Amino acid sequence: LDNGIARTPPMGWNSWNHFQCNINETMIKQTADALISTGLARLGYKYVNLDDCWAEGQRDQNGKLRGKKTTFPSGIKALADYVHSKGLKLGIYGDAGKRTCSDRMPGSLGHEEEDAKTFAEWGIDYIKYDNCFNEGTKNRPRYETMSRALKKAGRPILFSLCEWGQEDPATWAGDYGHIWRTTGDINDTFPSITSIADSNNVWAKYAGPGRWNDPDMLEVGNGGMSYEEYKSHFSIWALMKAPLLIGCDVASASKETLSILGNIEVIAVNQDPLGVQGRKIRFKGGLEIWAGPLSRGRVVVVLWNRSHSRKPISFGWREIGLHPLRPCLVRDLWKHKFVAFRRRFRMTAVVGPHACKMYVLIPVR
Ligand code: DGJ
Repeated sequence: LDNGIARTPPMGWNSWNHFQCNINETMIKQTADALISTGLARLGYKYVNLDDCWAEGQRDQNGKLRGKKTTFPSGIKALADYVHSKGLKLGIYGDAGKRTCSDRMPGSLGHEEEDAKTFAEWGIDYIKYDNCFNEGTKNRPRYETMSRALKKAGRPILFSLCEWGQEDPATWAGDYGHIWRTTGDINDTFPSITSIADSNNVWAKYAGPGRWNDPDMLEVGNGGMSYEEYKSHFSIWALMKAPLLIGCDVASASKETLSILGNIEVIAVNQDPLGVQGRKIRFKGGLEIWAGPLSRGRVVVVLWNRSHSRKPISFGWREIGLHPLRPCLVRDLWKHKFVAFRRRFRMTAVVGPHACKMYVLIPVR
């Protein structure tokens, strides 16, 4: 959506991947505090997003949604005020059906205008809009209705369509919102990451400022994958211009986890103003080359080894979109070093199993 929001992919945190329904106002506030104390907020992670289960099971007498009394006793407005006082933004969750997926709170189908108004009144900055209990009806009109309601509500709100990739959302969702899911739910395993990356890759050409493919939230730090696998996950999500929504417990995140999520050079690739989604360029036997253009003529390359053994991966300038005789500085984004000044116009790197190398090539005269 071209309304000034999400000109680069949104960055922040969401409660679902780690906490599911076990959320409350104290831990949300602690997460906001942790985003600041870890320095992640300063790197761009500014959205603090509630997922499913924040509301009371039924609407109040006036038909309004309300925060669950036992877990959000101060109400969502107070939470928004707190998050805003820290310089962060608050995201909320709703559903384009009768109930949300947990079946623990009402959906917004048939209540779009009043709910959009409520969210705007509370000072909400972001809404993720799920797709359960939709009574088997088409996605597009239900998402369109909420998009219009949000526009009318009179507050700039990032609209995240969570339709799980059904009905080829890349071809229409950008008219209504800023990000749309291209797949079903992620889980904390390497096969989940590879299959989601491949599905998301198909829709690359539809991404751009204000409209991004969403391959789901990050699992970095949740414990199911190795350090190298998490680095691959983060590198490819960044290259694909995915929303970078942290999905672990920030307050207890390890140094290793913070070093991945806090890699300022990888984040800069994701947030590059050119806003072109990188793609898979070539692959064979689990050895893959992903690349995409960046601003100022630079190119990002990820060499990804999905196989079980250490292997060399090579690429040439031409196949990643550089002039075949252009000398380039090569920056390794995980070593934080310039690794080569190349006049050979090809490069080879040895990459460990499930690991990746991530480079930015900077053309020089
Ligand atoms: C399905 C979504 O795809 C998930 O990201 C999460 O929001 C759950 N629903 C919550 O019930």
